[in-house]
Amino acid sequence: MGNSSNRIPYVNLQAQWKEEKDDLLPIIEKVLSCGQYVGGEELDKFEKNIAKLCGVKYATGLNSGTDALIFALHLYGIGKGDEVITPPNSFIASTSAIINVGATPVFVDVLPDQNIDPLKIEAAITMNTKAIMPVHLTGRICDMEPIIDIAKRNNLVVIEDAAQAIGSQYKDQTSGSIGNIGCFSTHPLKNLNACGDAGFLTTNDEIIYNQSKTLRNHGMANRNIVNHFGTVSRMDNLQATILNYRLSKLEHVIQRRRDNAKVFFDEINMVDLYIPEEKTYEFNTYHTFVVQTKHRDKLKEYLFSSGIDTAIHYPIPIHLQPASKKLGYKEGDFPITEKQSKQILTLPINQFLSEVDLERIVSVINKFEKDFL
Ligand SMILES: Cc1ncc(COP(=O)(O)O)c(C=O)c1O
Repeated sequence: MGNSSNRIPYVNLQAQWKEEKDDLLPIIEKVLSCGQYVGGEELDKFEKNIAKLCGVKYATGLNSGTDALIFALHLYGIGKGDEVITPPNSFIASTSAIINVGATPVFVDVLPDQNIDPLKIEAAITMNTKAIMPVHLTGRICDMEPIIDIAKRNNLVVIEDAAQAIGSQYKDQTSGSIGNIGCFSTHPLKNLNACGDAGFLTTNDEIIYNQSKTLRNHGMANRNIVNHFGTVSRMDNLQATILNYRLSKLEHVIQRRRDNAKVFFDEINMVDLYIPEEKTYEFNTYHTFVVQTKHRDKLKEYLFSSGIDTAIHYPIPIHLQPASKKLGYKEGDFPITEKQSKQILTLPINQFLSEVDLERIVSVINKFEKDFL
């Protein structure tokens, strides 16, 4: 039985603060003392930095990844009467953004690797379809070539939900640069994380970029003129400052997560456990490390009682949520998503795990199969 002092937490934001405190405190003080809280140099710098990292011309800092998705839909004129194709196994925000602009989500089932199945997309297209919103779940990029091809042939917009996938790559393209627009979250649990809610969108389209900047600021063209009503969704300068600092560490964070994943791939030998392989076309950033087993609940319990915290992303698919009742879906509509929702388990993968932690996770899982199955 693990005790609180030697538990392996699922995330470790306290360790991050401890590591960064000496660097971050003076940086934060500088922002607070200069009084520039909304907009400013740090935000401009962040937007330039992030556009470069994602390989796009423009980025717009926003309040959250959810707002980035809502903005993307809105900026492409998607609303009432329109349909958007998306997977039912994402975090609720992908679907709620579609609902929030008045459009209808149309779900398409996923592959064994949890990402949308491109072969099932075309059957879901109707006269009302306006966009495909693939979600790069867990940091694993979707198979984008066939998705872009379907979108081009059917005149659809591709909105990448890259909230979990900063820096992930498809061949030589980075997430957020492949579709028409990319939407990212820098929520505290993400690989690039703010100390509160924040997010951004990425685009190569100058018009969309300019509109996004106006939309996030009440639609104000300048101090006195409002051509279209907008909203407030500006990334705080303080969050931008923290993110600029953390951007310099992102490569290291991703590498640590990839190294941790390698240990799991190499050393976990539980037979009845499926871990989707990294494909030749992808560079996975392992926002989360999700394994699949029909013994999920027992394994979760066993890991917990051995002092190892895990999570489930996500136990109830979106089409089966009470909020989705009006959409008219039922159990059995998306068999792969539904099966996975009962079998997925997210292991700790964060950059603060020690070698000893990793070995402990591996040995507890391997022991579970030997002792219990
Ligand atoms: C796949 C996905 N989409 C959208 C979001 C929404 O991002 P935020 O929490 O910054 O609004 C998240 C955040 O967890 C997410 O994981």
